[in-house]
Amino acid sequence: MPVATLTLPHVSQPPLTTKYKRPHHVIHHAPPYKSMEELAAEVKKLFEKPLADKRLFDLSSQLQVQYRESLQCSTISMLPSFQHTLPTGQEQGDFLALDVGGSTFRVALIRLCGKKDDSDGLQVRRVRSYAIDEAIRDLPGQAFFDWMAQRIGDMATEYSYITGTTNAFLRMGLAWSFPVEQTSSSTGKLLAMGKGFRASQGLEGEDVGELVMRGCRARGLNVAICAIVNDSAATLLSQAYRDPATRMSLILGTGVNAAVYLPLSALGPGKLGERPDKWHAAAKSVVVNTELSMFGKEIMPTTRWDEELNLRHKMPNYQPLEYLITGRYLGEIVRLVLLEAITTRGLFAGYVPEHLDEAYAFDTRIVGAFESDRSEGLESAQAAFMAAHPMLSPPTLAELNFIRDVAKLVSRRASAYLATALHAFWVVSSWNSDHQAGKFERTTIACDGSLMEKYPGFRKATQRCLDRLCALSGAETGTVTLQMAPESSIFGAAVAVSCNG
Ligand code: GLC
Repeated sequence: MPVATLTLPHVSQPPLTTKYKRPHHVIHHAPPYKSMEELAAEVKKLFEKPLADKRLFDLSSQLQVQYRESLQCSTISMLPSFQHTLPTGQEQGDFLALDVGGSTFRVALIRLCGKKDDSDGLQVRRVRSYAIDEAIRDLPGQAFFDWMAQRIGDMATEYSYITGTTNAFLRMGLAWSFPVEQTSSSTGKLLAMGKGFRASQGLEGEDVGELVMRGCRARGLNVAICAIVNDSAATLLSQAYRDPATRMSLILGTGVNAAVYLPLSALGPGKLGERPDKWHAAAKSVVVNTELSMFGKEIMPTTRWDEELNLRHKMPNYQPLEYLITGRYLGEIVRLVLLEAITTRGLFAGYVPEHLDEAYAFDTRIVGAFESDRSEGLESAQAAFMAAHPMLSPPTLAELNFIRDVAKLVSRRASAYLATALHAFWVVSSWNSDHQAGKFERTTIACDGSLMEKYPGFRKATQRCLDRLCALSGAETGTVTLQMAPESSIFGAAVAVSCNG
């Protein structure tokens, strides 16, 4: 039975929209009805309260119910790919890998050489990264795919140059960090894109590969899309190339997702849609894109700042777990807490530092800077903060400590909720008679994404919490391990092409 969302008394505060037009605007009437200390204690209580292990274990059980239901009949999550075999690690060839992430587009020339004793056989020959800023996220429909095609063209030219050919043919694999309904291993219907992108507007249901190819053909590029995979599936495939025992993957960057290799019997009868007889004859298991971000509504406890974020979001309620734990949102949650502290408790003497009144302006990297700064004066965190958000006079040490405490609370909760979602995922995907007999196979979860890779202490905190939850399930520490899979999206895109023959 779903537990009611933790509802908290709403502190009345001035509406945000009109008060923050200009930086350095003084809020003269900020109600001093609570002190900063009282707010700090309240923030701590609200973020920490749901994190007792037993409570998380209970949340995991509720998530398991949502996962099982979606495996039976959801059309937006637990999406089966066409990938029914995993790589052997001996596939070879040159491929162009495209990686469309939430904040970066990468185009890479990948060479698969086959795994040997002293090498994993995966090589990046050339890679170019292009930042995806708000202007690119805002490109509507085909304009976004044309923007991609132009960058693909640049790499194709470079390939011709290094191979001494003119307009050499390249097979492309696309790692797509958005939901996609696969219609074959190289085609898939565009579904609503989160992360603030507008490219799917007016194009939902169209083939993602064709949208990319339209832009490429217009430029006369000699390329073909030969595989489309969600980035979570790409992570699984790239790590399976290195280690054939890989069965699960996790991405945690701008967004969150997980993929799993499951027997077909785990899926409801309608989940596979139309597939050729040949596919059915060959397939026993399939790589499933869970779209993990979409779970947790009405389960994961939230605070008033989460609720505000959700209400102001372009797609409220679309990806409830994502809004609580990923790189796109950690900074935003901290920003909303700080704004409340400024307007109602006189933080920074009631001045709003520049840009702090703009949605999504507080970068999660700055949140991380507060956590990694171990100095007493928090000098480097302060420098990072003030560089992005100049203010008339520098914050006091007490104010810097407040920001650091909020940063810690928000990121600790994120790692605990992620561990809970993974624990639930592990139980659902591997629960069998062995488990009931108290025996557990070791499971490695291949991980990638900027938070997992770079956010100070995040992966360790997630692993510790996961260990405690697995222990409550009767498994010993080390049963489920998070392992980084470097460059997983670009390698996975190339491996996917090679698997398609
Ligand atoms: C988002 C997308 C998902 C993607 C994930 C990680 O949640 O919906 O498809 O895999 O982010 O990038």
